[in-house]
Amino acid sequence: MASVIVIDDEPLQQSILKTILEDEGYEVHTASSAEEGLEIIGAIQPDVVLTDIKMGGMSGLQLLDNLTDEANRPAVIVITAYGTISSAVEAMKKGAFDYLTKPLDKDAITLVVKKAVDRMNLLRENIRLHKELYDKFKIEGIVGKTKRMKEVMDVVKKVMNANVTVLVFGESGTGKELIARAIHYNSPRRKGPFTAINCAALPDNLIESELFGYESGAFTGAIHRKPGLFESTTGGTLLLDEIGDLPMITQTKLLRVLQDKEVRRLGGKDSIKVDVRIIAATNKDLEKEIEKNNFRDDLYYRLKVVTINLPSLSQRKDDIPHLVEYFIDKFNLEFGKHIQGINDSAMKLLMDYYWPGNIRQLGSVIERAVLMADNEKITLDDIKSELTQPHASTVFDLEIPEEGVNFEELEKELLKKAMAKANNVAAKAARYLGMSYKTFWYRLEKFGLNNPEK
Ligand SMILES: Nc1ncnc2c1ncn2[C@@H]1O[C@H](COP(=O)(O)OP(=O)(O)OP(=O)(O)O)[C@@H](O)[C@H]1O
Ligand SMILES: [Mg+2]
Repeated sequence: MASVIVIDDEPLQQSILKTILEDEGYEVHTASSAEEGLEIIGAIQPDVVLTDIKMGGMSGLQLLDNLTDEANRPAVIVITAYGTISSAVEAMKKGAFDYLTKPLDKDAITLVVKKAVDRMNLLRENIRLHKELYDKFKIEGIVGKTKRMKEVMDVVKKVMNANVTVLVFGESGTGKELIARAIHYNSPRRKGPFTAINCAALPDNLIESELFGYESGAFTGAIHRKPGLFESTTGGTLLLDEIGDLPMITQTKLLRVLQDKEVRRLGGKDSIKVDVRIIAATNKDLEKEIEKNNFRDDLYYRLKVVTINLPSLSQRKDDIPHLVEYFIDKFNLEFGKHIQGINDSAMKLLMDYYWPGNIRQLGSVIERAVLMADNEKITLDDIKSELTQPHASTVFDLEIPEEGVNFEELEKELLKKAMAKANNVAAKAARYLGMSYKTFWYRLEKFGLNNPEK
């Protein structure tokens, strides 16, 4: 319920206003002077203040001057006598939301108070969203206590305030977009827009019109002109996600935009100045793509002023307990649950797993576990189905004999299957099994499997 304070030194008018507003469902407080009104405002932080301008003692205008708590400022509606419109103008200049003239009209009062309440709700919502956004992307909110992640965060802190292009490498789900947002929301551009475009998700012809915009008639279907992302992101940060999938011809155009800091819309003649910080992300090895003639080397050097290599989750396993704790807190809040943690055997499974989907996958495993868990702590039962399927079922789909399991045979079978799945790339197969490359290789040799051609 929204709260309103009526300030008026005429008892009759005060009580009429109170009745009207109470009928509308507001919580109404009254004060007979601006001084008293200020006290109540300080005490209850109302949404709306309805005040007469001319009163004995402090006037409604002086009251406006005394609202110094900007963060909790209510919407103020002033009431002026007929013929004193200049004081209403004065009040608006001092930040009043609106004014009413006497004689007061019931519909006008309810309408303007409703507008003021709506406006306050909108403002509060905005403040809340903004705060959430900052909180979400504040550097401290990014989990990473391992050396690898600390190094990453050191680079992030260094580049935040410099207006340089950053190239972020990392497997799927390692946090490339999170890092890009963190850079933006901690940079001097934080009040500007952050936009992301996924170069792999759009057909080639659409990417250009999205990035650079078009004039009407530029191509069939271009009915209205449309500014591109470079224009709409001016003052902010543009994430070019999956940049490794950008078509060659668009790469050429992009390079030009980066060099000249201006764009030309498709079908347009004029160049438009743009001021956009670029962050590019990819899970491809761009140097390999250059060799294969799929990526321009000059664009690559332009983008990689600073590069950030995000480790895969299996390369930063010591972060798993911290990430688990972070995700449990997060989903407790989201689902209104009170899960206290995770038991040892469940944690061990998480530590041993190879996490092909990285942090995104860990997040969804914990999300589901928090939702499903019946006990205080997450148990093996809450997570194991997620981790054995579907990946493991393809690798671990081994026949268990009725009796007399031969572990060596089992292990051998496992190694072979992992190698087959990894197309004989030992490093990959090692990752599937959550082993270090060295250990994996040692075990292959032990079973004479180190030459898969044989
Ligand atoms: N260090 C971290 N701390 C907390 N949450 C993280 C961290 N890294 C990633 N996440 C979360 O994991 C999920 C995946 O991250 P993000 O979308 O940034 O990955 P990505 O590398 O862009 O993945 P993709 O290549 O699939 O697009 C997000 O929900 C993100 O908030
Ligand atoms: Mg991404």
